[in-house]
Amino acid sequence: MSEIKKRLSVILESPNQKAEDQLRKICHLLDQEKDYFNWTGFYFRNGDKEELVIGPYVGAKTDHTVIPFGKGICGQVAVSNETFVVPDVSLQDNYLSCSIDTKSEIVVPIFKDGKNIGQIDIDSHKTDPFTKEDREMLEWLCGEVAKIL
Ligand code: SME
Repeated sequence: MSEIKKRLSVILESPNQKAEDQLRKICHLLDQEKDYFNWTGFYFRNGDKEELVIGPYVGAKTDHTVIPFGKGICGQVAVSNETFVVPDVSLQDNYLSCSIDTKSEIVVPIFKDGKNIGQIDIDSHKTDPFTKEDREMLEWLCGEVAKIL
């Protein structure tokens, strides 16, 4: 297991913690460990409504605290159920800008009991920075996060 997965596991496995606090710690760890992760946060489905609400995050304050399904990269992942890697956000029409500094983004869905309940969203100030290993690590992480929710 990679070093970062081990450190994420320590957070995920620590007992007597609120899930929200664990998610916040996960955001902080990823933000510290990856210099090109410049906004790291979670969005979750708002009950039965077709919208996402923001969860714990690390990074600049965003106006996008509620995102309707289908809107932006996050809203598209809520519908597609698939990881969405955007190497260059300027080439995306259906994109909600959080910061003018953001050049790229990756959004990975979280499934609980087969349902898409939310996602992790990472913005970068670099163009095309996300590696195959990042994607694999984040997909693993979302699987582990589902277990504590
Ligand atoms: N860029 C996202 C919106 C969320 S912010 O990046 C935090 C999108 O297009 O859905």
